[in-house]
Amino acid sequence: MTGARTADVLVVGSGIAGCSAALAAARAGADVLLVTKAERPEDASTDWAQGGIATTRGDPESLKRDVLAASDGTADPEAVDTLMADAPTAVRDVLVETLDVPFDGTDAGYDYAREAGHSRERILHVDASTGRHLLRPFLRHLDGHERVTVLEDTAALDLITEEGQVRGALLDTAPTGDPVFAGATVLATGGIGACYRRSTNPAAATGDGVAMAALAGADVADMAYVQFHPTAYAGDAAGGDDAAGDTFLVSEAVRGEGALLRNGDGERFMPGYHDDAELAPRDVVARAVAAERDATGEVRLDVSPLEFADEFPDLAAKCEERGVDPDAGIPVAPAQHFLCGGVAVDEQGRTSLDRLFAVGECARTGVHGANRLASTSLLEGLVWGRRAGRAAAGNEVVECESPELRDSDPDLPDRFAAEKFTRLRRVMDEYAGIRRTPEGLDRARSVLRRLKGEVDAYARTRTSRELYELRNAAVTSLLVVRAAAEHDESVGCHWIAEPDPAPAGD
Ligand code: SIN
Repeated sequence: MTGARTADVLVVGSGIAGCSAALAAARAGADVLLVTKAERPEDASTDWAQGGIATTRGDPESLKRDVLAASDGTADPEAVDTLMADAPTAVRDVLVETLDVPFDGTDAGYDYAREAGHSRERILHVDASTGRHLLRPFLRHLDGHERVTVLEDTAALDLITEEGQVRGALLDTAPTGDPVFAGATVLATGGIGACYRRSTNPAAATGDGVAMAALAGADVADMAYVQFHPTAYAGDAAGGDDAAGDTFLVSEAVRGEGALLRNGDGERFMPGYHDDAELAPRDVVARAVAAERDATGEVRLDVSPLEFADEFPDLAAKCEERGVDPDAGIPVAPAQHFLCGGVAVDEQGRTSLDRLFAVGECARTGVHGANRLASTSLLEGLVWGRRAGRAAAGNEVVECESPELRDSDPDLPDRFAAEKFTRLRRVMDEYAGIRRTPEGLDRARSVLRRLKGEVDAYARTRTSRELYELRNAAVTSLLVVRAAAEHDESVGCHWIAEPDPAPAGD
């Protein structure tokens, strides 16, 4: 068994949740191996996070109320209590005292921001690039930690299981893959943005952790709840959808500071949809933006009520790079943003499989229910990462037979993965997006099953990271579509619309 490694704790993924789990496990005395597909920090969604990190600011009850209200009453109150209980210590211990994150401040203390769905200013941030300013110091800190080894550009392809326990994972190291045997394995692989054409996630978000866990038999939950962010740059000045690669998030914090949404007729429309207007929960605003774009051709974010360039210099720079003049309003459209469901876990991040943990976006803790409140994902990853890292330490490593990967010859046909991904995204956009119908979900299920069958046929004779990513995206998309088909009533970000009379071909 050449190349086999062992680690007390194996962490898969290098966003805030994976880093937090690695740090906590190392502090608990475990030797930690953190493997990540990422070659650079910006390959992790955390690096893309703009708004910030919600804090209790001495009033956990009010944050809890906002979390529950945003979720349409579907979040698990006990999970939310866990988040509230750990939040102050986790933020102070890790972000402030260990990493010294330079949160924006005023003479009076922190400059707390407000975002949609929040009843008060309580979000710690660094400009509108908070994720970058906390992830990079976190990675540097772990790099210098004597108990943590980080392997970049290394994907985990499958979990190794024996006798009902997860023993580690198989890595995609050439030529036949190397097993890592671990006392416990923590999945922290992030979201599923690659399953949609327009997403605010990095391209590496192919649902790996959810798919690997589900294929190994772990329970998943709330997979129907895919959150769409209302204000991603629309891609061209006319508000068209054909420049997805150009998309960037325009943080909710901009609306928190007073920006307004106007339709193609220049009318401010959000007061007609919700009492909280532009600060309504994200699912409500996303649907309203989609409806107004359909009705009037475009929606723009009017930033004239604020000093945009002074208050959001990072976003002003992004606009300039793309030739967008913020004074004319930033053209925006909804884009896939976050998976509220995932691998079902308890308050320690334990999955239904022994010695397997999941944290961050790939996990379903119950905190988000059917719709996540803004700026709670970094906090959830931090809190559950700490908990899972501590709980994962202290298990004995047991080695076992590990499947070997097939040699990667013969090569995949040219463009096989790219073409299948295009088809998969088209189906997910069309049928499992912001508005769904039972008929569309049925159609999506049959197309995706066929697609997964084609991918599985290739995976029997070939191995490549690209093929496994495609498999993971197909498995995850099927889980989304199946879960969505089971809910015939709209709740949170799962919205059942009138049937579409003109279904698109696949
Ligand atoms: C944003 O800055 O609008 C995104 C914050 C989040 O997704 O929590």
